[in-house]
Formats: sequence, C-alpha cells, structure tokens
Amino acid sequence: MVETDEFIEDAVAEIREEIGDANAVIALSGGVDSSVAATLAYEAIGDRLTPVYVDTGLMRKGETAEIRQTFSFMESLRVIEAQDRFFDRLSGVVDPEEKRHVIGEGFIDEFEAVAREVDADYLVQGTIYPDRIESEGNIKSHHNVGGLPEVVDFEGIVEPVRDLYKDEVREVARALDLEEVISERMPFPGPGLAVRVVGEVTPEKADVAREACHVVEEELEEYDPWQAFGAVIGKATGVKGDNRVHGWVVAVRSVESRDGMTARAQEIDWSTLQRIQSRITGENENVARVVYDVTHKPPATIEYE
Ligand code: XMP
Repeated sequence: MVETDEFIEDAVAEIREEIGDANAVIALSGGVDSSVAATLAYEAIGDRLTPVYVDTGLMRKGETAEIRQTFSFMESLRVIEAQDRFFDRLSGVVDPEEKRHVIGEGFIDEFEAVAREVDADYLVQGTIYPDRIESEGNIKSHHNVGGLPEVVDFEGIVEPVRDLYKDEVREVARALDLEEVISERMPFPGPGLAVRVVGEVTPEKADVAREACHVVEEELEEYDPWQAFGAVIGKATGVKGDNRVHGWVVAVRSVESRDGMTARAQEIDWSTLQRIQSRITGENENVARVVYDVTHKPPATIEYE
C-alpha cells in the first residue's frame, strides 16, 4: 500500500519538475486512473494542462455529463463529441483487435488535433502497473499504452501512477477528494462498450450494452464486484407479446479481481439475476434473452473481445 499524502506530494513535485513551463495534455477517460493522473498534473501545472475527453459513443451511461461536472474546476477541459465519427470508422469492423486499432486511431486523431492546437510538449498518461505488464506480455493491445507518443512528437511522457495497482490508485483518488463516482468506479476498458459488443459495433448494439451495463451496475452494487456489466453477444429467438422475435442476447458478467489479470465469476443470488433479466428484457423490446457468465479468468477473459 502507498503512503498517499507522501505519494501525492512527490508526484506533484515530480510532474512540475518534468514539465517545467511547458504545456501538457492528458486523455481523460472518466476512469479512476486517468482522473487521478489528471488531478495530480492539474495541481502541478494548472491550466497549462489540457485534459481531453472524447465521447466515442462507447461510453458508460451518463459518463459525459459526470465528467463535465466532476472536472468543472478545470477551465482547460475539452469535451469532444465524436460519436458519429467513431461509428463511421467502426462500420463493418468485426475483429476484436481491429476494433481496438480503429478506436485507438480515431482517438489519436481527435486527441492530436487538440495537442497541436494547445502546443503541448508533454503527454500525461494514467497508465498503471498492470497495464504495462499486460502490454509487455502482448496479451492485448491496450490503447492507452504506447501509440499516442509515436504520432504526436511529444518531448516527454509523464505517467504519475505508473507503479500503482488499481486499489492503490483508488486510495490516492480518495485522498485527492475525487468524487465517489470516480474513486469507487469499476475499471472501464479504453475501447469502451466496443469490447462488450461481439462483432460489428453499431449505435443500436452500443445502446443495448450501455443500458445493460447500467442495470447490472445498479443491481449488483451490494456484491461489490471488481467489474460487472452486460454485453451484447449475438442474436436469438424470443417471444414478445404474441410474436416470435429475433432479438439480442445479453450476457451478464460480474467478477472479483485485484488487478484484472485473473478473475473469479461471482456467485449471484437467483432472485437478483431474475430482476436483472426482467429489467433488461423489459426496458428493451429488442432483447430476447439474458444469460449469466460463470467462467473465471482464465480460461475466459473479463471482457468479451
Ligand atoms: P480482459 O478482458 O483482458 O480484461 O480480461 C482485463 C482488464 O483490462 C480491461 N481491458 C482493457 N482496458 N484497453 C483497456 O484500457 C483494452 O483494450 C482493454 N481490454 C480489456 C478490462 O476491462 C479488464 O479490467
């Protein structure tokens, strides 16, 4: 565990020293890692930091509004509405790694435009220890590691939480008085809902996944999962009213983990599962069925793609 006050003091001093009088940018995802990195960097250099939040259309329900509110104290915050551009890019893309690549590229384009505009020399990133390990092992291409620096010619990259585990980042978030929606938030993958939609990502599938994630998060709060969500995994036949429909299948997943490298599927009470099922099928007439995923990691991964 980290000594949070000491960590914060050292991190702010280090950022100040590294960046000096220059300008910096950070991609704010709404997750605890980038929020902590941004808050530390903002404390260090104020509005010379431009935090950039890109709404890809693959964000959690209410995320963009939450970001605007939580970080309203940062006058330099940029919120970019890029939903249409991302869905255009994702049209016809089915391979999971290709999806990550397309989203990563789209993200770079949006981000780069701002970085150039504000004349940023430094890139601040919320990379944490497990991100680095998984990326080095090449288990999955995490788009928040690498990538960006190759495109924009930054003088340096600053990663204030690079040596911390997720639970340590949360401790720092609490010490920084970040709101609970941030500090206690479940990890959300960089490519967002795209990895919770099997196959092509369309606005409709993203909406189904977004609503399902919202329901699952609400209903499973008392289980205190490390991550819990709904994913659109295909289509199947169902009956709605008097009609047979070919609707979406939503998989519900809830796991315990320390760092995402391994995970255990949680044992959930039947009545809770039934409530989730009835909310998801009831709120969306195009969802035909809901299943619960009992697979640990390994052999499964946490996300679906
Ligand atoms: P998996 O699905 O590999 O996920 O078991 C492990 C942890 O990583 C998150 N994840 C990602 N995070 N970019 C990210 O920033 C990605 O491409 C990505 N894929 C998975 C996942 O949510 C879990 O916490």
